[in-house]
Amino acid sequence: MQQRTLGRQGLAVGQIGYGSMGTAIGYGPSDDQESIAAIRRAHDLGVTHFDTARMYGWGEGEKLLGTAIAPFRDEITIATKFGIETDTTGAFLPDSRPEHIRKVVDDSLRNLGVDSIDLLYQHLHDPDVPVEEVVGVMQEFVDAGKVKYLGLSNTTPENVRRAHAVHPITALQTEYSIFERGAEAFFPVLEELGIGLVSYSPLARGFLSGVVKPRDQHAADDFRQFIPWWAPENFDANVEITHRLTELAESKGASLSQLALAWLLARKDYIVPIPGSRNPDRVAQNIAAAELDLTADDLARIDQIAPNGGITGPTA
Ligand SMILES: NC(=O)c1ccc[n+]([C@@H]2O[C@H](COP(=O)([O-])OP(=O)(O)OC[C@H]3O[C@@H](n4cnc5c(N)ncnc54)[C@H](OP(=O)(O)O)[C@@H]3O)[C@@H](O)[C@H]2O)c1
Repeated sequence: MQQRTLGRQGLAVGQIGYGSMGTAIGYGPSDDQESIAAIRRAHDLGVTHFDTARMYGWGEGEKLLGTAIAPFRDEITIATKFGIETDTTGAFLPDSRPEHIRKVVDDSLRNLGVDSIDLLYQHLHDPDVPVEEVVGVMQEFVDAGKVKYLGLSNTTPENVRRAHAVHPITALQTEYSIFERGAEAFFPVLEELGIGLVSYSPLARGFLSGVVKPRDQHAADDFRQFIPWWAPENFDANVEITHRLTELAESKGASLSQLALAWLLARKDYIVPIPGSRNPDRVAQNIAAAELDLTADDLARIDQIAPNGGITGPTA
């Protein structure tokens, strides 16, 4: 697989990475053995960048990823994240208090079973802790040799700039797909400062995979029931968009998920999508997107079909 460089500090990774959230939370029940097989298939096919987070099962996702990659840890890079906790009702909230970061990053090292984390992200901006202070604590881990590169996720362009002034930021992880274009607001700051973009939910949380079902058919703990693309007033219009995108993909001998990932690779040479799948064959299908070339006409056609991404509002 071709390599891409995230940031100006030398982090080279395969152009398609692997996102492991679904192995622990978000998309209904998982089979751990199948998830481990999926992660190892990704490695066999050239993926070198594997993404997780403390909040993916409060350490369980990190443990599973650590088990899966143990035989080839030295050949790959691992990213994890701190900074999201839950309140007493179970609602997610930001937590980047310095003493909290110092504790949970050491927990992540233990959960992953590694001596160092290649890329450490703040998972979510915390309005109670200035980003300069957060990055200062992250830098302590770099100085101690426990973390190699720093990143931010779910933040603003202004925070990226402020963080980078304290310590070089290697990657921004943000949602980006044919359905969700908000990441484009970061392009100017990323290009000015030379920061990579790791695009999460590149398949629009599965909407762009070719297999999509209505909201009420998901498991009770499946995040997708809360996402507007699945809202009953938007669902059919979004399915129609995917049908038209699938026709274009098939005209090129590709699948919808491959078209969605190739679109991201074509947008900028500093973008690395991290699709998630717990199934080895679906992982292989996604990785083959690296071989799909989209022409200028294909890109224009995609913009014609989904000019504003997925439909999230009332359709009337
Ligand atoms: N920083 C953040 O706040 C944040 C937020 C969300 C995600 N992320 C990261 O980004 C990664 C990817 O995002 P994501 O998992 O939300 O969404 P995604 O990659 O857009 O989609 C994942 C969903 O698509 C399905 N899928 C994947 N490939 C498929 C294929 N070829 N055919 C049919 N179905 C397919 C998966 O199901 P199966 O598993 O059953 O195949 C899963 O339900 C995560 O794993 C996580 O590492 C980060």
